[in-house]
Amino acid sequence: MPAVMKLEKDGFGKFAWSAPYIRTKTGSGAFVLCDATGIVGYVLLKELGAAAEISIEKMAVARDRRKQGFGKLILNWTRARAKGKRAKRLCLHVRGSNIAAFNLYAQNGFKVTKMEEGEYSTKNPVGAEKIKITMQLLL
Ligand SMILES: CC(C)(COP(=O)(O)OP(=O)(O)OC[C@H]1O[C@@H](n2cnc3c(N)ncnc32)[C@H](O)[C@@H]1OP(=O)(O)O)[C@@H](O)C(=O)NCCC(=O)NCCS
Repeated sequence: MPAVMKLEKDGFGKFAWSAPYIRTKTGSGAFVLCDATGIVGYVLLKELGAAAEISIEKMAVARDRRKQGFGKLILNWTRARAKGKRAKRLCLHVRGSNIAAFNLYAQNGFKVTKMEEGEYSTKNPVGAEKIKITMQLLL
């Protein structure tokens, strides 16, 4: 957990979740990608609607390991796992300000299904941080 929290704080800054809150979110699956150096990234998943839908609640890659394909690797692994569980779709939310994550998801087949302004109201979001984009990938 300490290693995941380091990535969480580094990846999400003022929007990072606390360790107790993350623990409440690990019901349907918390997975880490490791190599010899330690934890490279993590993904938190939640099964919805009797697992027809799997939500990617969080994912992050260590700052010094980004732009090397690990985000895509975690996403591909998540897609294969969801398919194995016979889920019909993967869904997620991403902030309008998060260009790296939006590009990662869009490049890997996720489509925008909704955009809402003002949905992310806590922790004083500014500008595009306030925009909540919902994306979905049909499996
Ligand atoms: C989003 C994140 C997981 C991407 O991980 P990554 O390992 O760097 O991603 P990859 O190397 O697999 O990149 C895959 C694609 O993502 C997009 N991408 C990644 N970083 C990007 C950046 N800084 N700017 C724009 N697009 C970016 C590109 O489309 C890239 O494909 P390309 O290399 O062919 O251009 C990582 O930046 C991160 O941990 N960010 C902080 C936490 C976060 O925002 N998580 C998502 C919450 S919704």
